[in-house]
Amino acid sequence: DSLADGGTSLPIPPILKDENPDPGKAEFTLVAQKGSMEFIEGKPTDTFGYNGDYLGPVIRVKTGDDVSIKVKNEIDEATTVHWHGLEVDGDQDGGPHSGIQPGTTWNPQFKIEQNAATLWYHPHLLHETGEHVYKGLAGLFIIDDEDSDNLDLPNEYGVNDIPLIVQDKQLDENGQFTYDLSMHDVMMGLQGDTIMVNGAINPYVEVPKGKVRFRLLNGSNARIYQFQLSNNQKFYQIGTDGGLLEKPVEMDKLILSSAERAELIVDFSEYEEGETVELTDKGTSFMKFIVTGEEKGPNNVPSKLVDIPDPDETMAARTRKFVMSGMGRNVSINGKQMDMDRIDEQLKLHDTEIWEISNEGMGMMGNNMGMAHPFHGHGTQFLILDRDGNPPPPNERGWKDTILVAPGEKVRAIATFDHKGLFMYHCHILEHEDAGMMGQFNVE
Ligand code: C2O
Ligand code: CU
Repeated sequence: DSLADGGTSLPIPPILKDENPDPGKAEFTLVAQKGSMEFIEGKPTDTFGYNGDYLGPVIRVKTGDDVSIKVKNEIDEATTVHWHGLEVDGDQDGGPHSGIQPGTTWNPQFKIEQNAATLWYHPHLLHETGEHVYKGLAGLFIIDDEDSDNLDLPNEYGVNDIPLIVQDKQLDENGQFTYDLSMHDVMMGLQGDTIMVNGAINPYVEVPKGKVRFRLLNGSNARIYQFQLSNNQKFYQIGTDGGLLEKPVEMDKLILSSAERAELIVDFSEYEEGETVELTDKGTSFMKFIVTGEEKGPNNVPSKLVDIPDPDETMAARTRKFVMSGMGRNVSINGKQMDMDRIDEQLKLHDTEIWEISNEGMGMMGNNMGMAHPFHGHGTQFLILDRDGNPPPPNERGWKDTILVAPGEKVRAIATFDHKGLFMYHCHILEHEDAGMMGQFNVE
């Protein structure tokens, strides 16, 4: 009874069961395990997954919830789980110091103190993040709150509120994810020739004739996407990394670097039953929407979503500078490579700071080529003040935890640090992070 002729139907990651019946409390179990997936028929791929063979379930919580998560490690090597974008203390954040040895369980506990957002979780072990994520360890972490529940947004999960985890992979002739990095992979980050969405190659998904919300995560190790619909149809961006925007932003393409998220609304109400449109990256199609006859969802996109404070520079206690430079194994931030025993930046609890993040943009030979680096800071959400002195584009005027910085560019962002402990900042090209393009800040 499918309208599709062949192809793979888009897998929808299940919502993880909350084991605690008390409202206001949430308890989850996550098991990092080994698996096997037939991405290509007849060639099963060895994978990692959470509670399954590949990727992980969606952890869904509400603002104010007290959350406890048991993370069991059943892969044969140490790993960690980091809650990317979540505002929690350093010892619950799952960074490289929170290694979970094989066969053991880690039990972070925290309160959800931030607004509705689409976050994600993934391993963060020193030098191993790239390989663990590449093999399949990643999942979404969705926060709901009353403000977002009361907005008339598409909200039927898997029907007109659809998660899209986009990743590029390279399968070898045996169908395996080999992670033997070439010099080029180390320099530029690993880029595969096959784009997968929620773990499926070239999938299709049926969508109702109406407005559909997509929660898009660039879960790739390194690739920067330029998303567009094949018919150049416009869509609305309604959310950034850390929550909803103040108002929807109409656009016809979206650039998303590794770890960034965007919530979009695409209007399919003008489509005929059975009509299709494709989602493309730089013009290449990698998934298809098939419009059904069913009409569903709100008639309008709300013109006002949430309040985003006007960033106030005068609130900042100081400006802290981060200079990203190099390529490959020579990557660094402020001229240093990651050292687990060194704290690079000392912050005061509850301070607001301006982080000035620049990309030196120098290539290997001192030429000016360079490459764009997505800068990620843990434990807080930022508002972008300016890019090279200019106001950020409308779709970046919301909460951000990962900020793409072009070669030669300087971005200023402001954040308040309300959680104590040790946190990371790093390039989210995972091969750069693993090569040492990371530092530590302590909030006290
Ligand atoms: Cu998505 Cu430091 O991580
Ligand atoms: Cu980088």
